[in-house]
This record gives sequence, structure tokens and C-alpha cells, in this order.
Amino acid sequence: MHALLFLVSALSASVWAAPTFPNLSPDASIPDNIRTLSEYFNLLASKVQDSRLLAVPPVCDLSRMSLPAGASDLPAPSPGLTLKHIAIGRGTQNYTCDPATPGEAPKAVGALATLFNASCVVATSPELASTLGRAALHFPVAQSEPSQRLAPSNLGVSGVHYFRDATTAFFNLDVAPAWQIGEIPCAKNASTPAPADAPRGLQREAAVAWLKLNARPGATGGLQEVYRVETVGGSPPATCAGMKDSFEVQYATQ
Ligand SMILES: *[C@@H]1O[C@H](CO)[C@@H](O)[C@H](O)[C@H]1NC(C)=O
Ligand SMILES: *[C@@H]1O[C@H](CO)[C@@H](O)[C@H](O)[C@H]1NC(C)=O
Ligand SMILES: *[C@@H]1O[C@H](CO)[C@@H](O)[C@H](O)[C@H]1NC(C)=O
Repeated sequence: MHALLFLVSALSASVWAAPTFPNLSPDASIPDNIRTLSEYFNLLASKVQDSRLLAVPPVCDLSRMSLPAGASDLPAPSPGLTLKHIAIGRGTQNYTCDPATPGEAPKAVGALATLFNASCVVATSPELASTLGRAALHFPVAQSEPSQRLAPSNLGVSGVHYFRDATTAFFNLDVAPAWQIGEIPCAKNASTPAPADAPRGLQREAAVAWLKLNARPGATGGLQEVYRVETVGGSPPATCAGMKDSFEVQYATQ
């Protein structure tokens, strides 16, 4: 997710969830560095929570955030928009292959991802965004499980992402009672390859492209533009040789 940056014309009030330790899948292999990361993210979340009690300026200030350097070839946000939300997306990129033509490249047929509210953690510590996506790739997500947390962090679900049809990427950010952010059907506006050093996926595959998406009619909550940046893995193999008719590749993004 990577991050998805949702830009709208107004800011909403902050709502906080108490930090809790995630339920880690006992089946997942948990390298020591991921355990350390988990502790770190929880510490960070507690600090952000604590700082609410201090008489200091807002801690989750998204107004000073900018896109990562790798997004410089994408069009800038349209004038007048304000950053509304940052989510880590974790799910699959879906592809199909025609067995009759194994030499052809797989065809992208959409994606399915759960979105986790990373507004505060990324605003507090932007350099953590890509680390968080990279770590999250090693943990499974249960689709349609609104109470889950993004392992190895404690981020809560803020939305779901899927395709409504071949060209309409849809983001429902109304799934969490605490964060009614809106819904946005969108179409791709621009694409740029992920940076050469972007983290590879579980099969060592390259990171999917970074994108700018613009709203199609029907968006709510003032949502207008979405960026997919800080991608981790998700690309298909170069050809369909040896692949099934339809397959998924795990990915993460901001
Ligand atoms: C969740 O998202 C909303 C909207 O971006 C934001 O105001 C809030 O601070 C976020 N909470 C966390 C814990 O990131
Ligand atoms: C993509 O794959 C997921 C499983 O990860 C599946 O539930 C979903 O329906 C698929 N979507 C498309 C458009 O193929
Ligand atoms: C991208 O969006 C800008 C406005 O935001 C528009 O002028 C341009 O035509 C769009 N390009 C494509 C390829 O959709």
C-alpha cells in the first residue's frame, strides 16, 4: 500500500484505537528481525497514542507529507487537494494465462487487498512505510475479517480494495466504524516502474509499478485521487510457461 495516499478536499477528525499486539499466525515463519519489527511498531504506536496527552501540535499531521522520491514521474496531486488517509495494502495481484500460448506474458485481471490504517505511523515516521509493507508480506491476511491487525504491526483495518470490472479499481474505506473515510471507484491515470531497489516478493518477483489513479463518478467522502507507492512484490513471471490458467501473486503496498 506501499502506500495508498487518498487525497480529498477536507480533513476529518482523528480517531484512535488502543494499540494491541497482533495475533500472529503460528504457521507463519517469523524471523527474528520481524519479531523485532513487531515490537518496534507497537512501541511506536504507543508513543503516538501517548503523545495525544501532551499539549503539543497534532501528532498525525498529514498536511506536511509528500510523495516518496520514486513517485516523481507520476503527476502531482491536483491543486487544492489535501491528504486524507495513508493505508498499507496487503493482498494479491491476480493474473490469467492461456495454456495454448505459454510464451505469452500473463494478463493482469485485478487485485484483492485489505487496507490497514497507517496514517499516523507513516506521518510520524515516513521511512517506516516501505519497511512495514516488506514485513507484512510475510504474514497472511484473512479477507473480510474487519477485526484483524496487520502483522507484525498493530494497524487496524480501514478498508478493502478490489476490482469492480477490468478497469475500475475500487476502494471501500467505510468498513471501519471508527474511520468512515469514503469510497472511490477509480481508473489508472499514470504508471511508473517501481524503483530498481524496490523490495522483491515472496518468489523473488519484482515489485509492481507505482500508480496514480483518478476517481470515476460515484466517489464519496470527497475522495478524488489515489497513489499506489512503496510496492513490494506482486509481479507475474515473464511468460505463462508452467503457470495455471489463473493464479495470484502476494503483494503489499502503501
Ligand atoms: C486512521 O485514519 C484516519 C483518516 O486518515 C486518521 O484520521 C486516523 O488518525 C488514522 N488512525 C491511525 C491510528 O492511523
Ligand atoms: C483475486 O484472487 C482472490 C484470491 O486471492 C480472489 O478472491 C478474487 O476473487 C480474485 N479476483 C479477481 C478479479 O480475479
Ligand atoms: C491524468 O489526469 C490529468 C488530470 O488530473 C488529466 O489531465 C490527464 O488527461 C489524465 N491522463 C490520463 C492518461 O488519464
